[in-house]
Amino acid sequence: MPQSPDLLAERLARLKSDFPDLFTDEGRLNPAELQRLVGEGESERYEFRWHGKGEAKRRAFMPTTAALNYDASRSMNPDQARGNLIIEGENLEVLKLLLSSYRGQVKCIYIDPPYNTGKDFVYSDNYTQDKRPYWEQTGVTEGGVKVDTNAQADGRYHSNWLNMIYPRLLVARQLLREDGVVMVSIDDYEIDNLRRTMDEAFGEENHVATLVWEKGRKNDAKLFSVGHEYMAVYAKDLQALKDAKTIWREAKPGAKEIWDEYVRLRKTHGESDLAIEADLTEWFRNLPAGHASKRLARYRRVDSNGPWRDRDISWPGGGGPRYDVLHKDTGLPCKVPERGWGISAPDEMQRQIDLDLIVFRADHTEPPFRKAHLRPVADELDPENGLDEEDENATADPDDAGLAMQVRGSCIYKQSQVAVKALRKLMGAKVFPNPKDYEELAKLIQYVTGGDPCALVLDFFGGSGSTAHAVLKLNREDGGNRQFVTVQLPEEIKPKEAAYKQGYRKISDITIDRVKRVIAGTGDKPQPLDAGFKVFSLVKSNFPRVEFAPDPDKTEAENLIALKAYIQAKEASLFNVLPRELIQDEVFLKCGFQLDYQLERVTELTGNEVWRVSDSQATPRTAVVCFDTQLTAVTLDWFKAQTGRVILLEAALDTTMKWNLRHTLGARFIAF
Ligand SMILES: C[S@@+](CC[C@H](N)C(=O)[O-])C[C@H]1O[C@@H](n2cnc3c(N)ncnc32)[C@H](O)[C@@H]1O
Repeated sequence: MPQSPDLLAERLARLKSDFPDLFTDEGRLNPAELQRLVGEGESERYEFRWHGKGEAKRRAFMPTTAALNYDASRSMNPDQARGNLIIEGENLEVLKLLLSSYRGQVKCIYIDPPYNTGKDFVYSDNYTQDKRPYWEQTGVTEGGVKVDTNAQADGRYHSNWLNMIYPRLLVARQLLREDGVVMVSIDDYEIDNLRRTMDEAFGEENHVATLVWEKGRKNDAKLFSVGHEYMAVYAKDLQALKDAKTIWREAKPGAKEIWDEYVRLRKTHGESDLAIEADLTEWFRNLPAGHASKRLARYRRVDSNGPWRDRDISWPGGGGPRYDVLHKDTGLPCKVPERGWGISAPDEMQRQIDLDLIVFRADHTEPPFRKAHLRPVADELDPENGLDEEDENATADPDDAGLAMQVRGSCIYKQSQVAVKALRKLMGAKVFPNPKDYEELAKLIQYVTGGDPCALVLDFFGGSGSTAHAVLKLNREDGGNRQFVTVQLPEEIKPKEAAYKQGYRKISDITIDRVKRVIAGTGDKPQPLDAGFKVFSLVKSNFPRVEFAPDPDKTEAENLIALKAYIQAKEASLFNVLPRELIQDEVFLKCGFQLDYQLERVTELTGNEVWRVSDSQATPRTAVVCFDTQLTAVTLDWFKAQTGRVILLEAALDTTMKWNLRHTLGARFIAF
């Protein structure tokens, strides 16, 4: 329909062209900015604001009533899961649920959220208050959750994305250990907003680096071919990492092969370092020219910490301390290197001698040297010893260029096609667009967790499961016991998509199937991994009381009576109908147990089914629990005598029983 020109729009466009700074990033006029410009606004301060920020923050801290149900039929080798989880569900709710048992436990979070390019799909939190559409879509239809495109034409384009990411980062931070690290992939569209949001959620001072990942260029671009994306890396507490003298290093190409050969020789020769040294020297000699390990051929000496090479003991750049170091045989002071000792204090030098990290020459006329192990032991990497990159006076020692471990630069060069092809080969078809490169992710996870073989790694935008794949790869390589927790929305797959034609209906089905294939192995002679995982799905609470809606026309007392009657009526039938497992998962998770909890029947009580529950956290959580709706007097007395936590169902207790238990056990008594 023809319309008259929009004069207001024209005037605003003119204003915007002259004063772009008066407009928000969504293109709206910001009157407060105009007031500030003419000196009438509030005093200036640096802040990052967008529409809906306050509400987004509130959402992060709003408790959830949802629960997680164990899905045995979609799990794989649950007895070997050892903490590996794939959780199908909306990640904000899931993160909140994980808080009670995983707070401060996660060593590394990697996420690859939707980039907000206008083409990808963003899950809207609008119905967090009333999640009915989510439950309807996940529970009633098999097809999964519908998500909307966040079109650029929408005036809230950036705000919508920020409102999605901000609360999730706020909750995720609480899951990190004090020495934990978070890495977030993003591209040009939202890198600025992501950095500023992460500065707020994690603290600007905890920014470690923003990596650039060059994935290859396309020749069809008219100006520049932008083939890179970013990865923002933040620590939970960068100062804590510095205080702990944390140094991140990765193995150079060729180092792994040397280590593998050393392990093989150790098995053959047992404790004889000399025999291993002889064979290792021979192995180096027989390597074909150009083999990456050849450049590290100085690692031919061996001790109980593996292969090592000598390393200069003087202070890089000169001006190091000069003190006496007595030769172990002659007892006389060794010659001090011209640049001074590379170890700042005599007592640290002595400690390193005692640790067998310093090697004396035949006599004191030459300075001793240091050992540099192929896999350095922690004491070799002491930053005080002139190796701290942030020490302005420390100059890189050219001798160090030949070390087997290196610091990573901030650029990654790897074609995205490598990951696309690898996933296509594994799944037999192209079932997921733009998977991340699991091999590169494995290297990064290894790097930022300092090689921790037990790190818990979380990805709450799981996609095709690349992070879980990376964790399994690392464990296979070094026999580690890292665990993955991957969260993926049951996002609907449309019939026109290739994945649909392969039989997948939800993206979470792809996540689960990929990880199954990785564990089962592929090819003519598959080599299955000694691993498994449990699948959980986000569901409405199994306890019907959370559905009770108070009647606004009734008084509080009347509503309370109605609530009690409602609970009694519903719960009486609930516990007879629902399998105990469903209720116990919800109860244990909300009581802070990790999802790998173990149950042991208390056999001395015959009148009721009573269990001891414990999990495998560093300090395991424990409790005694009964899900029966009627308790015998013997059972009740037994519970009253317990010294730990007691978990019972409200439905099993009348007011007197509850009062008695509360009186005897105090906060150790929990009723659901
Ligand atoms: C860019 S992809 C991640 C790809 C993944 N890194 C890989 O290598 O396959 C983002 C994923 O997050 C999922 N997602 C989006 N919003 C979500 C939400 N609120 N909760 C859980 N998953 C969500 C999408 O369905 C999509 O699979």
